[in-house]
This record gives sequence, C-alpha cells and structure tokens, in this order.
Amino acid sequence: KKKLPLADKSVLVTAGPTYEAIDPVRFIGNHSSGKMGFAIADKFAAMGANVTLIAGPTAQVSKYQNIKRIDVTSAAQMLQQCLLYFKAADACVMCAAVADYTPANVATQKIKKQQGDINIELKKTTDILKTLGEQKTNGQILVGFALETNNEEAHAIEKLKNKNLDLIVLNSLNDSGAGFKTDTNKVTIIDRDLKKTAFTLKSKTEVASDICLKVTELINK
Ligand code: C5P
Repeated sequence: KKKLPLADKSVLVTAGPTYEAIDPVRFIGNHSSGKMGFAIADKFAAMGANVTLIAGPTAQVSKYQNIKRIDVTSAAQMLQQCLLYFKAADACVMCAAVADYTPANVATQKIKKQQGDINIELKKTTDILKTLGEQKTNGQILVGFALETNNEEAHAIEKLKNKNLDLIVLNSLNDSGAGFKTDTNKVTIIDRDLKKTAFTLKSKTEVASDICLKVTELINK
C-alpha cells in the first residue's frame, strides 16, 4: 500500500467563529461558517495526517476518523487549546475568525433593559496566531489567513511578517463568491519570499487542496 503524503505528520487547524459572552444569554460573534477550516482539516486527514481541529461554534461536521475535534466557544478557550497542541504540530493552519475584542466583564445575570443607552467595555484578546509565531521552532510551518477589504496584498504581507508566518492565504471580500458563508473562495497564497500564487474562484474543497499541497511542500523542504 502506498504511503500517504502526510502519514506520521501532525497538523493543527482552527476553524469557525468565536463567541464572546456579554452575559448568560448574549454574545459578540461573527459570520464565519467554519467551512474553509473544516475543508482544510478534511484534506489533511485524507492526506494521512494526524489532525487536531479546534473549532468555534459551528454546524460543520468533519468526514474523517483521524480528526480529533475540540469544540471551544471563546477566543481565550481557543488560545488555551492551541497552546496545548502546538508543540506536537508539524504544521498549523489558523483559519478561525477569532474575536479581536471581548467584553471586559461578563455579567453573571442577564443584563436588564434600561432607560437609556448602555456601553459595553471591550478588551483586546490575545492574537493566537502571533503567539504561536513567537513560539515556533525550526521546521514548524505556520499558516494564517487574511480577509481584507483594501490594500489587500500589503496588509497580508504585513501580517505574514508581523506574525512570523510561512504562508498567508489572502481572501478578498471584494471578490463575489469569496468569503464567509459561501461554498467557494478565491485566494492568493503568499510565502516568505513574497512569492504570490493567485488561484481562480473554486470550491472550498479545491481551495483546501491548494493550501494543503503548499503546506506539504514546505513540510518536506
Ligand atoms: O490580524 P488578523 O486578525 O487580520 O489576522 C488573521 C489571522 O490571524 C487568521 O489566520 C486568524 O485565524 C488569526 N487570528 C488569531 N487570533 C486572533 C486574531 C486572529 O489566531 N486573536
């Protein structure tokens, strides 16, 4: 039997949104469906990798047995789980749409409607990807996503450098069919040498293949 390309490799993937609690019934979230991250986890699994998938609240299901799925709710929980699994990972693809801000205080009781307006104080969350970039040791491949609306490539390259990534996957909200809830995506992958590979609009499954192949090339380098 032919050996699969990522047999005996471990990969870590994050997917979906995070929910940041305001009180017991309310949260701040985003429109991420988790489709892209689950497609990537499935592809890695099909390539034989040992996959850990850390997922925010999502309706997605994964197809493969060799995916260890860990469900989390908040950015803080996602960070905690990523830190547990990062050391063992040969590659790490951070696809989750992690909240940048979280309520400074979570009310223990449901917040009552009041006469006037109210303010919710927000504090910054920890950038998971940047944290892993700081901890990365030689050989580990770290991949981030950038969803941009303007100056896309410049912003993506800034993130690649700032977060110490090996690849950044740029998807633009300006392209129809690309983004949060769709089944298709259009991406440009940029590597550390700033070499850009622009792909056409295709299914998220096919985009996942393109990404996983690039990662495999880097793992084998
Ligand atoms: O800086 P920005 O949020 O645009 O970067 C997006 C990339 O960083 C994505 O890969 C996302 O998963 C990751 N990220 C993270 N933790 C955060 C914010 C973003 O891992 N708190």
